Amino acid sequence: MSRLVVISNRVAVPNARGAAGAQGGLAGALNAALKDAGGLWFGWSGEEVDEPSTDPHVATYDGVEMATIDLSPQDVEEYYFGYANSTLWPLFHYRIDLTKFERETGRGYERVNERFAASVAPLLRADDLVWVHDYHLVPLGDRLRSRGCGNRMGFFLHIPWPPTRLLVSLPYHKRLVRSLLAYDVVGFQCDDWLDSFLHYCRTELGAEVDVETGRIAIDGRETIARAYPIGIDFDHFTAEGRTGEARQMEQRVISSTRRRTAMIGVDRLDYSKGLPERLDGIGRFFDRYPERVQDLVFIQIAPPSRIDIESYQHIRAELERKTGQINGARSRVDLVPIRYVNQGHTMAELYGAYRASKIGLVTPLRDGMNLVAKEYVAAQDADDPGVLILSRFAGAAQQLGISTTGALLVNPHSADEIADAIRDALAMPLDERKARWRPMFECVRDENVKAWTADFLHDLKRN
Ligand code: G6P
Repeated sequence: MSRLVVISNRVAVPNARGAAGAQGGLAGALNAALKDAGGLWFGWSGEEVDEPSTDPHVATYDGVEMATIDLSPQDVEEYYFGYANSTLWPLFHYRIDLTKFERETGRGYERVNERFAASVAPLLRADDLVWVHDYHLVPLGDRLRSRGCGNRMGFFLHIPWPPTRLLVSLPYHKRLVRSLLAYDVVGFQCDDWLDSFLHYCRTELGAEVDVETGRIAIDGRETIARAYPIGIDFDHFTAEGRTGEARQMEQRVISSTRRRTAMIGVDRLDYSKGLPERLDGIGRFFDRYPERVQDLVFIQIAPPSRIDIESYQHIRAELERKTGQINGARSRVDLVPIRYVNQGHTMAELYGAYRASKIGLVTPLRDGMNLVAKEYVAAQDADDPGVLILSRFAGAAQQLGISTTGALLVNPHSADEIADAIRDALAMPLDERKARWRPMFECVRDENVKAWTADFLHDLKRN
């Protein structure tokens, strides 16, 4: 059986940057995939050193073999904070207003991708399946190919793919997208992102595209592009939910909110998550129904992320200001409507907090998938499930709100729609809550991270 080699910027090693609970869906999902399939995980150690070596540090953590390299401060500045997170991330989340176009950071991005290729190539065996992840490493496959690597190689994009009209604002966009066609299989979270990608390949690259099969042909090479919606590690997450730690957190939320309904949001502190807009929706709800401040408490867990980037500092300041305004205007001596928590939490704690909350508020302005929505559904009590309010612009809306009538779908830019959805969720009878929750639960349970891995690897092996 061929070995699986996963390559991503972030790996789940103990010293990797970022607090627990702030790592986003990628690292957790890949950890699960690798534990299951066995193999090697290659990525950045999270460390900055002045003269990094291309020889990776190899160690086994939690049963998974990890090979990591350090980066220089200049690499981190240009590649991670620069091109990946100040150019590609905002542009791919449709935020051209926040997108920085700097030639220097583009060079840093190419240089680090080349460094990744140089470090990982000697570790590869001829029949390894290579699976590269996310926007940090788009050109890596092409860099490996030019080093003679003939392995089956796949790429999965965890974030949205932007419409062609936005993408063409990126200098050298063709070079970037062409390099993606060095992979054999390219995966997206949902059909919306896939459609935009196929449109780009046809109209900008002049490739031959078969939309039915996702086959893209150009210059004698073929790539398959398909949607593979990522899922949560359902078994692991629900096992965490059975621990004392989870139960303790559930009790803490219940006893501290007393007779009020807890509503929860859990997000990395990122402008794509729609946090200020969410607070505007909550503010609108209280403006319309001021007496309901006795019925509802909103808990927002938002661990800081990418804090060296200015747009992230702004979003944090804005969130603090809006929380302060609502709490200032609506608090009473014995109650505060919004609890804003700036820290990461363990999976078990999150499970407990979700379960104690009768409304899950997940309203990103744009999101590749959004696994918080799936975790919220997985953690509910079957006899008394909560209501999920979900942005129609999250990849998860397809599975949880369109193919099932589960979640209440909202436009996250509309304070009125969010306020209406909160009102409806609070009033929803138990029968309707159960009827909406059941199909969502089955989807989250069955279309889990193991199924996602199997599906992608099946295509990667077959082609
Ligand atoms: C998103 C991205 C991941 C990233 C994660 C956390 O989920 O798709 O690639 O790892 O955010 O962000 P960070 O910059 O801390 O790795």
